Amino acid sequence: MRQRIFSGIQPSGNLHLGNYLGAIANWVAMQDEFDSIFCVVDMHAITVSQDPVALRQKTIEIAKIYLASGIDPQKSALFVQSHIPEHAELCWILNTIAKVPELEKMTQFKDKSQKNGRESAGVGLFDYPVLMAADILLYNTQTVPVGHDQVQHIELARTLGKRFNNKFGETFIIPDYFMKEESKLIMALDDPTKKMSKSAKSEYSYIALSDSEEIIRKKIKKAVTDSGSEIVYHDDKPALKNLINIYALLSHKTTAEIETMYVGKGYGAFKSDLAEVVVDFLKPLQEKMASISDEQVLEILRVGAEKVRPLARKKLEEVKEKIGFVI
Ligand code: AMP
Ligand code: TRP
Repeated sequence: MRQRIFSGIQPSGNLHLGNYLGAIANWVAMQDEFDSIFCVVDMHAITVSQDPVALRQKTIEIAKIYLASGIDPQKSALFVQSHIPEHAELCWILNTIAKVPELEKMTQFKDKSQKNGRESAGVGLFDYPVLMAADILLYNTQTVPVGHDQVQHIELARTLGKRFNNKFGETFIIPDYFMKEESKLIMALDDPTKKMSKSAKSEYSYIALSDSEEIIRKKIKKAVTDSGSEIVYHDDKPALKNLINIYALLSHKTTAEIETMYVGKGYGAFKSDLAEVVVDFLKPLQEKMASISDEQVLEILRVGAEKVRPLARKKLEEVKEKIGFVI
């Protein structure tokens, strides 16, 4: 039996290189070896206000990004979270064993709720990690490939899975996360102390997967670098280290190879080549996305939901029986 992986991305904001390198690239690499389920988590997206028209478009766009990046619907199940209501049902049941202080300490909740003032933070935003635990536990997921910012959420999924098992008997597989050291946290181009984020104030902090050639070149030119002029991969030079990481991951070179390539050359040459590498990577991805129709995507998502529905139903039945619901 192959091990199962599950992961998802919210259909909100602009997907960027951090999302691709931290998450999607790993999914593509893992799908041959693992029984893979990839989700567009629209129920998570509505934990902050979304425009309905934009949400629908983004949901389709994210699925196109999965496909254009190399997720193969013959190998992996690809679906929209809200098409499987069992996610919400399991979330409700897990809510009854999750504790308020466990959710209060979640970094993402603290960050997002502070943004508009805690008084206006929604209950859905607070409950977000429990829904994510439901996503994962519903499918007997063994490994969750994600970026570093999701570790705390996966730890909560582990806690809730264990707590349920202790109370009601062995039901859930306790999941692990998977990430690669070099790509687990891609930093912002304008501030190497912050992660590259789709909710960043300045668009110069991230490279969106949809950015044009011209914008990519501009953004990389403007990216902050550290003092000095040598191209060295070192913790003392966090901005440069981040750029070398992006270069290495997209060109499949090692960071040492890149250092060697730029001995005696300055930041200018390095940055202009990096822009080339990013453009060469994103152009075909964008072309592939443009070649996929909305209808094709909707059909793939429908088939994906039908593939996973029996798994979700079976697990939820088991849970309902364990907790004493009449079924
Ligand atoms: P989100 O954009 O929060 O929905 O994240 C989608 C996926 O991308 C998650 O697995 C994140 O951990 C990952 N991710 C987001 N930002 C970064 C980043 N700057 N570096 C690496 N991975 C990231
Ligand atoms: N919270 C994740 C993020 O923002 C998205 C997500 C929702 C997810 N459910 C998941 C990721 C289940 C992995 C597994 O990136």
